[in-house]
Amino acid sequence: MQRLTQFLKHNETPADLVELINLLMSACKEINAKLNDGELAGILGATQTENIQGETQKKLDVISNDLIKLTLSESDLVRGMASEEEDLPVACNPEAPYLVTFDPLDGSSNIDINVTVGTIFSVLEAQDGFDPAEEHAYLQPGYKQVAAGYVLYGPSCILCLTTGDGVNMFTLSHNGEFYLTREQVVIPESTQEFAINMSNLRFWDEPIQRYVGDLLAGEEGPLGKRYNMRWIASMVAEVHRILTRGGIFMYPWDSREPKKPGKLRLMYEGNPMSMLIEQAGGRSINTQIDIMNVQPKHIHERVSVVLGSKQDVETVLKYHQEASAKAKTAEKTSA
Ligand code: AHG
Ligand code: MN
Ligand code: MN
Repeated sequence: MQRLTQFLKHNETPADLVELINLLMSACKEINAKLNDGELAGILGATQTENIQGETQKKLDVISNDLIKLTLSESDLVRGMASEEEDLPVACNPEAPYLVTFDPLDGSSNIDINVTVGTIFSVLEAQDGFDPAEEHAYLQPGYKQVAAGYVLYGPSCILCLTTGDGVNMFTLSHNGEFYLTREQVVIPESTQEFAINMSNLRFWDEPIQRYVGDLLAGEEGPLGKRYNMRWIASMVAEVHRILTRGGIFMYPWDSREPKKPGKLRLMYEGNPMSMLIEQAGGRSINTQIDIMNVQPKHIHERVSVVLGSKQDVETVLKYHQEASAKAKTAEKTSA
């Protein structure tokens, strides 16, 4: 079996990117070890603090963030980083080639119930002329990412990675090495499995309500298929399932916080997951356009997310296009 470093070198990944990925993995292995110790390490439960999103931080959100931050800031490969758990970007080495954005612990509501969580990361090339302590330095659209991935902390610890040449998965062995376990992952084009937090149904807009209604209508409905549903409340776990057996994942805009485009964050959730999904032959949209074409305005900006099996995501796109066309016609008629 091929080791992560061996595989990356064999695939002509630039040496400094290999080094950066290894560095990120050294922090993720430490997070994995803490998660394995769980209650024994006194790491469960919440802190007294909130992050910039107004969410109460779990102890492990903070521990994971500190581990990754410390590891990256000591490296001469990282010019700066932006994290879900840091209000402001953190400047590192001004000569370094890369910027890293990350969600140190995704799915943190699962920590205390011992269910799958993950770390999500995105790597961008640092551009000269920007101060890495300022958010402008990071505001590149997702299609410019040079690498993206997640580490899933579940029954096994799995790294899912793209450097722009397909998606590969690596499993962490007891010997501390990641080994290639799935090469060139491909998502089935269509699915019979969807993931959405159904408790928000009454807050969605019309096209999403219509689409989910049609999913629930099964073989008698316009989609002509019976669908199954899953919701783990950890984007890493949902995306991993989709990369493994297909499916569609949605966290759309809703009227609970109407001014925000969605719950998930563009730069360290939407973009890296979109790169993985698209590199595996799927599609990822914000209901209107491809997520990786969204021009970010803020590092903590939110985004509406619909991703997964291509045909199904395109059906959601079509429902939204039909709704906009209908709204335009209605506007013209009333004018
Ligand atoms: P995080 O733990 O980093 O804040 O992210 C949680 C996200 C995502 O992983 C998941 O899909 C979603 O929030 C779950 O949201 P609900 O609790 O609203 O279902
Ligand atoms: Mn998250
Ligand atoms: Mn998080």
